[in-house]
Amino acid sequence: MGQKRVIVTGATDGIGLITARRLAEAGAQVGLVARNAEKGARVAEELKKQTGNPDIAFYKADLSKFDDVRAVANEIRAAHSALDVLVNNAGAMFIGKQMSADGFELTFALNHLSVFLLTNLLKEPLVAADQGRVVTVASVAHRGADLNFADLDGQNGSYSAWRAYQRSKLANILFTRELADRWRESHVTANCLHPGFVASKFGENNNTAFSAFFKVGKMFAISPEKGAETSVYLASDDDVAGQTGGYYTRKKRVQPSRAAKNADTAKRLWEESLRMTGLDG
Ligand SMILES: NC(=O)c1ccc[n+]([C@@H]2O[C@H](COP(=O)([O-])OP(=O)(O)OC[C@H]3O[C@@H](n4cnc5c(N)ncnc54)[C@H](OP(=O)(O)O)[C@@H]3O)[C@@H](O)[C@H]2O)c1
Repeated sequence: MGQKRVIVTGATDGIGLITARRLAEAGAQVGLVARNAEKGARVAEELKKQTGNPDIAFYKADLSKFDDVRAVANEIRAAHSALDVLVNNAGAMFIGKQMSADGFELTFALNHLSVFLLTNLLKEPLVAADQGRVVTVASVAHRGADLNFADLDGQNGSYSAWRAYQRSKLANILFTRELADRWRESHVTANCLHPGFVASKFGENNNTAFSAFFKVGKMFAISPEKGAETSVYLASDDDVAGQTGGYYTRKKRVQPSRAAKNADTAKRLWEESLRMTGLDG
């Protein structure tokens, strides 16, 4: 990864932190994107010490807010005329229904719309790299989900944290499929993955019995080190150079759900996401 320029979102904890560390160990210039300035600066300093790699930068952005996504994309574009890898890793589940600053259900805003917006805003540097890669951390949780275009972000009606999360992770896979198609003329590849059930901080943001449930469940989960393996593989391995549009787990390309393979849904989601993020105007 020497000389490669990499951005990892949600790199202050869990799978993203280990992904950033592995890529830094391999010699990449790594930009960490996360929302907490103090934690981000501390993690960047720790990673420099742990890896001996001085090329680690921190970019502050609350990725659930479009203004922050636009601002951080500008900062990244100013720092890098070419970007080899974007790892869209940041994500969360929210036990109670919340709305984002831009008026969308928060899970959908953070897990899908911000990924859509950031990736599109970084198209120029990704295309300028020899072989740009977009890696998006989806989840096996997408199975059983479908999109309802009458209420795409699920802001109307009753709320289920699990359903909202499932929907957002289905959107990650459909986005990857459509991105691979739309950017096919470039050298940029787009792949996504399920990391496994990982003992990270995931779910602990809710501070309720739900977080306790996650803590107990994680006794049976794999480590963040193991959970980061497929992200690192898709970001850096020669095996997948030129491979695009795939959904991977344990470093193998596998079939996602039927809903995740629907080309019409993927196209429609892209068009709606353009409108929701304001990228169409
Ligand atoms: N853990 C699992 O079993 C599992 C399974 C399947 C898929 N995934 C996916 O894996 C990805 C990483 O999750 P994880 O398990 O590593 O969770 P985690 O330990 O909770 O880490 C999440 C990271 O995302 C950051 N983040 C959260 N909200 C953000 C926001 N609004 N703006 C910017 N950064 C934000 C967090 O920042 P802070 O440090 O400030 O909290 C943290 O760095 C997610 O997309 C998740 O859906 C996880």
